[in-house]
Amino acid sequence: MSKFIASPATTLSGNLKVPGDKSISHRSIMLGSLAKGVTKVAGFLEGEDALSTLKAFQAMGVKIERNGDNVTIHGVGINGLKKPEKPLDLGNSGTSIRLMSGILAAQAFDCELVGDESLSKRPMGRVIDPLTAMGAVIKSNDGKPPLKITGGQTLKAINYDLPVASAQVKSCVLLAGLYAQGTTCVTEPAPTRDHTERMLKGLGYEVNVANSQMCLTGGGELTATQIQVPSDISSSAFFMVAAAIAPKADITLTGVNVNPTRTGVIDILKLMGADLTLSNQREIGGELLADIRVQSSVLKGINIPQALVPLAIDEFPAVFIAASCAQGETVLTGARELRVKESDRIQVMADGLDILGIENQVLEDGIKIQGGTFKKPTAIIESHHDHRISMAFAVASLRCNHPIEINGVDNVMTSFPNFVELANSAGMDIVEV
Ligand code: S3P
Repeated sequence: MSKFIASPATTLSGNLKVPGDKSISHRSIMLGSLAKGVTKVAGFLEGEDALSTLKAFQAMGVKIERNGDNVTIHGVGINGLKKPEKPLDLGNSGTSIRLMSGILAAQAFDCELVGDESLSKRPMGRVIDPLTAMGAVIKSNDGKPPLKITGGQTLKAINYDLPVASAQVKSCVLLAGLYAQGTTCVTEPAPTRDHTERMLKGLGYEVNVANSQMCLTGGGELTATQIQVPSDISSSAFFMVAAAIAPKADITLTGVNVNPTRTGVIDILKLMGADLTLSNQREIGGELLADIRVQSSVLKGINIPQALVPLAIDEFPAVFIAASCAQGETVLTGARELRVKESDRIQVMADGLDILGIENQVLEDGIKIQGGTFKKPTAIIESHHDHRISMAFAVASLRCNHPIEINGVDNVMTSFPNFVELANSAGMDIVEV
């Protein structure tokens, strides 16, 4: 089990290129595999989560070649997947298991989806329920993985009102809808990331989006294309917060995905007073990109608008560090979903902030954080093997007077394999031991 020793640093600078977006990388493998023809992906995230998806599709007979972050997928067509010989191990990846359930529920073969200790505790009822309503047959361990999917079912289209604002559930139902008889519609209670809809359209599949409803009709085909994966805004968020709280900072994050369903963190940090500017906005392959310049600033506590919660759902560990360094109180509510991520991110962050001497109050669906100073001389933080908790506390070292230890950082590899290298190149001081 590895740990970070993150020592205080004062200055952050440079142009930083963060690796490819995790959500888009997963979808490129899934849709590229189901397309007819050869899909070329550039900027693919070489993190363990996206690689779990890649290996799973290889195990279902798809030829996929990888040369660094360039991936070539020899699509097998919508009905071309083969029965895998073994259960598909999706590691730590919620996106893999939830999106793939939608595809696999509609195949002619049986299969089993398994994951690591954290994934095996995460709720799958949210995908099992709508898929069962479509005619799928799925057995689980009391609503948790492993998932045993019985093939050979004929799926029928449904109209589904998402009970939680979840892009994973929306995508799962839409992917099952590719195989269903009729038109499947999903209505979301609040906007969530729309990479599935955008990429389906990019591969020539008609998706009708009106207000909060997305519809597609089963029985069509996907056509191979070229996919350029932009830098991940969720990984970039650690550097946005780092530069905002560092005593001296001026960094530019280049080519970051600023899809409006992902930019909640930018809005939150701006509301807190962060000095953050977007430039060179452009569209590549149906996704918006920008360069983001962030300089040191004096942050203030805010009430985080609930509408921004699904648009920043993965960025709260980093936002909590910003809140800890802000003047006054920051209040987050309406974020119960944080409790069922790779760890219970409300409790685990609160425990770490306690250790660093930051006053906070855990709420059922959020947290109140009183900005202050990290005052404990020796701090050992438990990340609970959650990649984003590990990276968030590494960023906190910019405002500490002593090194902090962060335990269980192995899963940083799931989303941001070169985090330490990039952070140190910008001026941070993190050692992995
Ligand atoms: C993701 C959706 C989000 C997010 C996850 C990736 C996706 O999960 O937390 O990291 O790629 O669709 P939910 O849809 O469960 O909120």
